Amino acid sequence: MSLQITPLHNVGAEISGFDINEPMTDALKNELKSLWYEHGVLLFRDQDITPEKQIEFSRIFGTLELHPLKAETSEAYPELFVLENGGDKDKFFTARYRGEEIVGRLDWHIDLHYTGRPNHGALLRAVVVPSDDGLTGFGDLAKAYDALDEKTQALLEKIEVAYVFCMQRRHMRYVDLEGYEPGPHSPRKPADMNYPDFPDAVYPAVVRHPVTKRPVLGIVEQFLDRIITPQQAGLSNDEAIELLHRLVEHTRKPEFHYFHQWREGDMILWDNWRLMHCATGTHPGVKRVINRTTIKGDAQLGRVLIKE
Ligand SMILES: [Fe+2]
Repeated sequence: MSLQITPLHNVGAEISGFDINEPMTDALKNELKSLWYEHGVLLFRDQDITPEKQIEFSRIFGTLELHPLKAETSEAYPELFVLENGGDKDKFFTARYRGEEIVGRLDWHIDLHYTGRPNHGALLRAVVVPSDDGLTGFGDLAKAYDALDEKTQALLEKIEVAYVFCMQRRHMRYVDLEGYEPGPHSPRKPADMNYPDFPDAVYPAVVRHPVTKRPVLGIVEQFLDRIITPQQAGLSNDEAIELLHRLVEHTRKPEFHYFHQWREGDMILWDNWRLMHCATGTHPGVKRVINRTTIKGDAQLGRVLIKE
């Protein structure tokens, strides 16, 4: 196989000339791995994928992980997690955004951020997708870091930020709550969804990517709560809050984003140590099925804050 690489809009690359069902040499596997680190997001189109193939392909990039929170992993394939809109569970994930009911919308986030040990990456494969709904967004936090002025970059070296896991979106300090209303079945506390109560997780404001060593901006709106000891960086509490608002706004700039409109047969792999992602959600009743495999996070990027 000889791969052709076409950059996607702003972030990531589409890889063509690839067939998941063809035998793969070690050289090809290494090429795929370095493309993943180089571009952060890889899109493969028109792939005829069985769950077995998806699992086998994902293993090229690391050890696979079972999602620790989900009871819905496929019984036959425990490495496979099925993301589904348009089924019985919709009511728990339905809320109003500016007057419109949306199912499964997710703010920009990093998977397992709240544990201090995010997954290394994940692979999504479109099984059933609507033609104009349910987009997945990817935001490159390495590019976002590079685009900061030097003064801010230097200041961030002195700062750590805390993330607080919670179920209620309106308790999150830095997400956009304008026009948001939770649905009648929106979970209120972690136990409502059989989630444990996670302690706060703390990250440096600049995370070094464990493999590429590239600096990655450690600011992501979901669960973002505060700067730990802002005084050590010469900031008052008000200045600390202002700085986080400014950084979150920075990560929202479209120049760091790629939004993927799914087609059946699409497969996307991303580096969760470098990119945040989000879901625009679907309109009620719209069917969407995505199969997901997850590459284990074998490095500690943050730490858990133990309360005295
Ligand atoms: Fe996610």
